[in-house]
Formats: sequence, structure tokens, C-alpha cells
Amino acid sequence: TDYTIDVDTSRTGAKIDDSMYGVFYEDINRAADGGLYAELVQNRSFEYDTADNRSYTPLTSWDTKGAAKVVNDGGRLNERNRNYLTLAADASVTNSGYNTGIAVRKGERYDFSVWARTDGAGRAPLTLTLHDASGELASARRVAPRGGWAKHEVSFTAKRTSATGRLTVASGGAPVALDEISLFPRDTYKGRENGLRKDLAEKIAALEPGFLRFPGGCLVNTGSHEAYEEKSGWQRARSYQWKDTIGPVEQRATNANFWGYNQSYGLGYYEYFQFAEDTGAMPLPVVPALVTGCGQNKATDDPALLKRHIQDTLDLIEFANGPVGSEWGKKRAEMGHPEPFKLTHLGVGNEENLPEEFFARFKQFRAAIEAKHPEITVVSNSGPDDSGTVFDKAWQLNRDADVAMVDEHYYNSPQWFLENNDRYDSYDRQGPKVFLGEYASQGNTFGNALSEAAFMTGIERNADVVKLASYAPLLANEDYVQWKPDMIWFDNDQSWGSANYETQKLFMRNVGDEVVPSEASGTPATSGPITGAVGLSTWATSAAYDDVRVTGADGEPLLTDDFSAGDAKWSRAAGRGTWAVEDGAYVQSDASAENTLVTAGDKGWQNYDLTVKATKKSG
Ligand code: AHR
Repeated sequence: TDYTIDVDTSRTGAKIDDSMYGVFYEDINRAADGGLYAELVQNRSFEYDTADNRSYTPLTSWDTKGAAKVVNDGGRLNERNRNYLTLAADASVTNSGYNTGIAVRKGERYDFSVWARTDGAGRAPLTLTLHDASGELASARRVAPRGGWAKHEVSFTAKRTSATGRLTVASGGAPVALDEISLFPRDTYKGRENGLRKDLAEKIAALEPGFLRFPGGCLVNTGSHEAYEEKSGWQRARSYQWKDTIGPVEQRATNANFWGYNQSYGLGYYEYFQFAEDTGAMPLPVVPALVTGCGQNKATDDPALLKRHIQDTLDLIEFANGPVGSEWGKKRAEMGHPEPFKLTHLGVGNEENLPEEFFARFKQFRAAIEAKHPEITVVSNSGPDDSGTVFDKAWQLNRDADVAMVDEHYYNSPQWFLENNDRYDSYDRQGPKVFLGEYASQGNTFGNALSEAAFMTGIERNADVVKLASYAPLLANEDYVQWKPDMIWFDNDQSWGSANYETQKLFMRNVGDEVVPSEASGTPATSGPITGAVGLSTWATSAAYDDVRVTGADGEPLLTDDFSAGDAKWSRAAGRGTWAVEDGAYVQSDASAENTLVTAGDKGWQNYDLTVKATKKSG
């Protein structure tokens, strides 16, 4: 085949910033608890709740023996950690961790801690054992609490390697109250206390990310914007409010995650900033704008609440950058980081489907931030789609408001990525810059990775307009998948990068300084159709519909390798927050809508007309 690339070294193209390629981190697919956050005990503070997931109770992942019960009364550890466990004089509880269990490696140290309170005058000895079906994994240890709530710590050395460990805490001779039962590997990423799982953090660090966007995604701005306090009935399913996630871990009020599980917030804003610093990435937090996206589409109209969230955002900047003498800079210093975290960019909002309502609020956030911190770039977004009415309207509002940077998201077929290499060639050079905050072709095959690589050459060619780009989502625990494809996969003791990870690594570790203009002519050789895993361009939440069915154009239930009508697999892959499909579905505009399912078979990529049928929940 005759194929030529002419490189013109006499001209210079766009300059490429070092921060061009980064990572989009969201606590989806159990990316935080049971993932990047190295805590090995699941539901350590007994705060799991049916509001987090229908199947949860305060004793989820715990087995009890003898008289052991969860109590919610005035004897609690603190107001933000409301449940605790009582063990009678001769009882025990056993935690089963995540996935197959608690993973330990022979010869490594594990740090155990527990908050305990005894009601009697004497001591209440506790015996701690780490074991699996084959017996002891470490010699048993003891602590002997006495008196009011206090933290007790002890460490283990694992005698064997196991991925199916259990942790048992047994009382002996006196009743005792327990909370915040924790087990951490000593060997976390960079040896940080309350740290990150090393293999996962190292895989992310190996990308040499230019930036770290956190904490999501849909979990940022969905749910209630109320605070966690008695007045709001100890509101769960709150939007991601950063102040909930700092300070001593036993005082961080857990929350219901938009993706259908509990978030302990043990991995919170301090830890995210520190991880960004440790990996050399620019931190890029995103805060809720009081207009929910991701199918909830609700604009909160409460000036006092808006004012509080705007103040929280100013406080966040102070937490990141303020001097140690300032209120929030002091809190950062108390947590161990007196130096500033060098925050320069901050996102407000994520995928709002109501552009007018979003902009009314975004502009108030931006005005307050710019008045106090003109050095901060405030990032807006273009809504949930890569084209269409909301997208056009959002872009027009962004341009009219002279916004500095707009976050775009899209998940499309590999064919789309191949056909849209020129997407940014025509973007207005005078308008807002682009932060391509989320994108992926629908699959984790080599074909998908190749189509993304091809597309990235187009991003890079337009590096004067596209300033930041990140594949999404980053992490997936294979036993808790709400969304796929994902870049890095893991279970409780292993992790592996996808083909897409390798593409990202290649580009991210080899960021050029500037584009050298080139032109191609001729037709490159083709090697047959690109195939990949299934992807679904719609997704669901449990808000308003039930009786969901997914059928093909012929009305037959749609069955493919990865999706089948009406089962939980479909709902998880479609990005839902809950596990069972009959619980409800989000449909873009109406109770019934047409979407496109792209699937792969031996004939290559094909389009199917996909109909999502849902009936409104009664009441
Ligand atoms: O990356 C998964 C989800 O996709 C994000 O939470 C959301 O922003 C987008 O719809």
C-alpha cells in the first residue's frame, strides 16, 4: 500500500502542556473502599444502611457469635459515627473483608485498631485473630480496654499468604462496646498512614499523570445537598461535600454512594491531594453546583444552601493553599501537611442536564472564587452529551460567560473515535479551552485501545484548545462493577491494566513539547473490522421508574455476551447505582426512549436499536 506521511519541520504546531494527560478518578466500581483505599475491613464502623444499598444492614460483612448487636444511642463514639457494636462477655464478630476476603502476604505487617468502651470498672480483654479456612494467618493478639472510648492498636505479621482471610474480635470475661474496627497493611503506597493500596496506586503513578481529577463523576453532584446533621435527619445519599471527608477517620460521617454502596470517606480530600502530590499530578477537585446531573436533573433553589456551598468551596481553596494560620490551612497542617497543595484548577459541576439552571449557579460560584482567588481556573462543563441541544446550549452559555475551560464527556464506539479524529480541528481558538474529562470507546479490547490511540493523536494535534484529557473510569473492582469498560481492574489481592491502560501509559509518559505539523496521503492497510466488548449508551438510576426491559428493535429481549434483558448485569454495566434492574431505570427524557447499543460479534461492529421500556413507579 502506498501511504506517505509528510512532516513539515519548518512550521511549529500547538504547544503541549505537561499536564495534558491525567487521570479521572471516581469512586465507582468500588474504586475507594475495597479498592484504592487500603483498609481491609469492610463496614468498619457499622454504618452500612439500606439507604446505601437495599441488601445492607449495619452488620453487613460481619458474622456474629454469641450476644453481639449494633446499637444507635447516646453512648456512641461521636455524633458523626452513630452506630456501634456491643459484645457480651463471651461473644465475637468476624469480618470477611471485600471480594473473597482479607488479603495478606507472608512476612508483611498489618496494623489493627479499634475504638472500645467498657461499661464495668475492670478491663475487658479482646482477642484478635487473623485466619482463613486453613487456620491461623498470624499469632493471636490481645488488647484490654478499660473505661471510656479510647483507641487500641496492635499489629500482626502474616505467617502465610492468603486472599481469603477473616478478622475475628472476641470478648473474654466482660462486655464491651466497639467501633471503627480497622486493619491496614503497613506497606501502603509511599508508606502513608491511612494510606492507599500499593499495587493500585503504583499502577496509577506509572502513568505519570499530569493531573488527578477527583472525586468523580456522578457521585459529586447527585443526591441531597444538605449537611449531615440532626436537622436534616442525618441525611444519607448526600452529594460529595468535601468537609465530610477530612479529619480523624472515625469522625467522617459515612454516606450512600450514588453508585449503590457505602462510602466510608476514609479516602477523602486530604488523601486525594496527597496522592496528587505523590504522583506529581496537578490536583483537580470538582464540587457540586446544586444542580444534580446523572438522571436526577434537579435544581436546588435554596439561597442559604447555595451560599453555604459557595463558602465551602472558598474554604476548600483555603484548605488546599491557605497559610497554616488560616482556619482551613490549619486543619491541613494538623493532618500532617503544613505546605500548600498548590491547587490551581477547580471544577464546579458535572454533566448537568439543565444548562440554564446550572449556569445561574455556576456564575455565582465563579464570581465568589474569582473575587477572592483570581489565580484559580474555574472549570465548567458541557452537560452529559457530546452533541445535541443541551450540549449546544451549554457551550453557548460557556462562550457567552467567557468561561476559561469546559469539561466534555463522551463514551462512544471505536468507529466513532476513528471517525472523529478531527473533532477539535474546528473548535474556536478564541473560545473556552477544553478539558476532555471523560472518554472511552466501549470496550477493553486491543481494538478499543487502538481507536482511542488514533483519537488521541487528534487531541494532541489540537493541544492549543484541548488542555487536559483523561480516560474514564479509572478503576474497577471486578466483583462490584457498575460501569465498564474501565482502565485498571482488580480484586482483593491482584490488579491488571487493560489494553486501554497501555495506550494511556504510552501517551502519558511521552508527552511532547509541541506538535510537528504533518500530512498523510494514500490509504493505510486495513486489517479487518475492529471488534470489542459491548457498550450501552444509556444508563439508569433508581429514582423514578420500575419494570425495566431492554429489547432489540424486533421487540425480542436483547441478549449478548455481556448483557441480558432484565438482569443485574445489564444494569451494572449500564452504570446504575443499584444492583437489581427491576428497581428502576433512568430514561433521558421520558418514560420510554430510544438508545443505541453497540455490540461486537464476528461480523464486527453493528448498531442495534435499543428500546428501554420503563413504567413510572406508583406514588
Ligand atoms: O465515568 C462514569 C460516569 O460517566 C461518570 O460518573 C459521569 O460523569 C459520566 O456519566
